[in-house]
Amino acid sequence: MPTPLHKIRIAGLLMVIGLTYSCSSDSTEPLVGEVAYHGMVSTAHPDATAIGVDILKKGGNAFDAAVAVQFALAVAYPSAGNIGGGGFLVYRKSDGETGSLDFREKAPMAAHQDMYLDDQGAVIEDLSTQGHLAVGVPGSVDGMLNIHQKLCSMPFEQLIQPAIELAINGVVLTEKEAEKLNQQQQGFYEANNFIPHLISDNGWSGGDTVYHAELAETLIRIRDNGRAGFYQGITAQFIVDEMNGGNGIITLEDLAAYESIWRAPVEGYYKSYKIIGMPPPSSGGIALLQLMKGIEAYPINNWGFNTSRTIHIMTELERRVYADRATYLGDPDFYDVPVEDLTSNQYLMERFSDIDPNKKTSSQSIRSGAVGIVESLETTHFSIIDVDGNAAAITTTLNGSFGSKVMVAGAGFLLNNEMDDFSAKPGVPNMFGLIGGTANAIEPQKRMLSSMTPTIMEKDHELFMVVGTPGGSTIITSVFQTILNVVEHGMTMQEAVNAKKFHHQWLPDEIEYEPGAFENVTTSELEDMGHVLVPRSSIGRMDAILVLENGMLEGAADNTRGDNTAMGY
Ligand code: DON
Repeated sequence: MPTPLHKIRIAGLLMVIGLTYSCSSDSTEPLVGEVAYHGMVSTAHPDATAIGVDILKKGGNAFDAAVAVQFALAVAYPSAGNIGGGGFLVYRKSDGETGSLDFREKAPMAAHQDMYLDDQGAVIEDLSTQGHLAVGVPGSVDGMLNIHQKLCSMPFEQLIQPAIELAINGVVLTEKEAEKLNQQQQGFYEANNFIPHLISDNGWSGGDTVYHAELAETLIRIRDNGRAGFYQGITAQFIVDEMNGGNGIITLEDLAAYESIWRAPVEGYYKSYKIIGMPPPSSGGIALLQLMKGIEAYPINNWGFNTSRTIHIMTELERRVYADRATYLGDPDFYDVPVEDLTSNQYLMERFSDIDPNKKTSSQSIRSGAVGIVESLETTHFSIIDVDGNAAAITTTLNGSFGSKVMVAGAGFLLNNEMDDFSAKPGVPNMFGLIGGTANAIEPQKRMLSSMTPTIMEKDHELFMVVGTPGGSTIITSVFQTILNVVEHGMTMQEAVNAKKFHHQWLPDEIEYEPGAFENVTTSELEDMGHVLVPRSSIGRMDAILVLENGMLEGAADNTRGDNTAMGY
């Protein structure tokens, strides 16, 4: 049985940090994140992180803190934190038990395969991303209640209460949050028949306070009535009225029927590390495992971080893995996903056997022309470890930034635009440029395929890392790189999070990269191998925790790309 973290004590934290990170990249001093002993919370917003740590300090476990953080993010981080969206939990308890909860949105009962097509069968632009028809039946509230029932130790009311107080007392905007809200003002006007409280006539500034009075009332109804406080009664009626005021199709029956599902995680090994990942309807666990098993054959620690050989091989693996994703992955309750086959060593050896070490393989062309990212993207991930070594990894989303931008009148929260994660038509890319077919076709009550990759790792059977990120289709490759940065390139957790990222997803056939990602390589070396390189402003915004050799925890939140904050005690 694994040793509880609080029983592992080796004196001299600084010495251990020195030992642990003996081969960090360029700088002489490793950049170490927040280090603490009892517990750690890493989220996209300082208020949510503080609420999570407070729950841990009060004796709550990692799952208590996770529920409190999810509701806090719904208030403090409305671009992605939510009660009107969905997500996934991957967990590992201190006794080694693992599991996952799927609280992904579902297609409404009236959804059908052609719902985003015109009379000629062409996809109608924006219909699956904007407005009421883009909304899937939300899963987050049922998810939190299920987590509470199975894994938590504190009363539910105490976990949701900090979010209620935050909503009433107001959230002070950071500069970044103010800027994000300002970018979406027009979108909020267009998506709503009333003026949502996220609109400010003069624009928002850092330091302004946003009060979420109606959201507070909704959270109080959830606190007092549980599931019925959201999926029935006043809140459900508000949602359905909102749908009827636009072209939405979610009904009271849809809401009453929503259920999150406990699923067995996807698990497998990379060297002595066990990877515990999210199964379908996320593609994250399978794709990450395929990538990790694929890279195991190559000595990338000798080749070095982001050298041309390393980038080339990672890209070639990604090209093949994303092609599999498009064909084979979808909601397992509707489509028989061949999980065992896709992650078997035999299959993967064959699948990756045609990789040429010197030349890129051409991705088959399904639709010509590159698909750009049309708007800033938002999902959010948080990682938590408690004093006993229980670990929670949750990635949750509204899909696009502020989702469909539709706010439920009277209830004060935003609805997702997750329906775009379905394949609206075989071969036609969604907003992330991802294509799909039958496996991910729209069907009533089906869950749309996701890339979210909340992940927990063990090393030699002990808890090692909790990791995840937003980023749409880039989530899988960001998690892949972040893990390799630590286990192969000797980075601290913080360095791995901060490191510039790149991404390939089969189609479009190009490597997207953050400026600075390729500073160890002359880009012409990659171009000579046939790669097309496309710069992109930002990839990933990780929240991760690493268990150090002495049992201390290094929390690493991406405060370079976002306001993410890790805090421990
Ligand atoms: O589930 C998915 O894969 C997407 N809805 C995630 C969207 C996302 O990460 C957007 N943000 N960065």
